[in-house]
Amino acid sequence: MKGSRQKEKDMEWFGENDGIETWQEVQLVYTAALRQVQTKMEILNEEFQHVHQYNPIEHIKSRIKTPESIVKKLRRNGYDSTIENMVNYVNDIAGIRIICSFTSDIYRIADMIEHQHDIKVLTVKDYIMFPKVSGYKSYHMIVTVPVYLSDRTVDTKVEIQIRTVAMDFWASLEHKIHYKFEGDAPEHIKQELVECSHLVSDLDEKMLQLNEEILELSRIQGQQIDNI
Ligand code: GTP
Ligand code: MG
Repeated sequence: MKGSRQKEKDMEWFGENDGIETWQEVQLVYTAALRQVQTKMEILNEEFQHVHQYNPIEHIKSRIKTPESIVKKLRRNGYDSTIENMVNYVNDIAGIRIICSFTSDIYRIADMIEHQHDIKVLTVKDYIMFPKVSGYKSYHMIVTVPVYLSDRTVDTKVEIQIRTVAMDFWASLEHKIHYKFEGDAPEHIKQELVECSHLVSDLDEKMLQLNEEILELSRIQGQQIDNI
């Protein structure tokens, strides 16, 4: 539970008209949406393990954006700090990151998400097929999930980022460097990060090939055993 000090601090970010109750309600709804998506992903992963004896998801991280960075983002995009604006224009208040072993898992998971009846996909950005200039690679989806409250249902936006372990390693280092230099890192560091992103792609590709070879070998071995 938040102390009254923290509540006052939250109030400062949104101004008096919106009231802290509204911000608390927003937090409640987005936290519920995040939990729903996380649970859905865990169930899909377990079901996949049951059917294919294989887990496509390594691990999952999730977070709710702080009021401070929500307000910063609104300001950066020229919007007033109102609850209405944050709900309409900030798509990553609830964010979930799904980390997989192989690139093929990413598309498998994205496909499973698209086929969930109560999840509506609003946008997809494939930075694996089309990496950012920085070298950033990941698969992004903005979706909505229905959150059932006692008197209404709120379709709530969640940003889903799906990436491999190697892509995640790259992104967290690049993020740290970006912050350290306040977005203005020396040119040679940026260049080296781009080179590292190519190494990440090569590694992901090699690991995928290796895994497929191993799977094929164990399939053949299985057949040989069956034939005995
Ligand atoms: P914001 O970047 O959140 O303002 O939204 P956007 O509309 O530009 O969306 P985009 O899908 O491009 O990026 C959303 C999120 O992806 C960011 O908040 C980061 O978490 C991550 N991201 C995007 N680009 C980069 C990058 O170059 N490096 C790293 N480390 N993360 C990135
Ligand atoms: Mg973001």
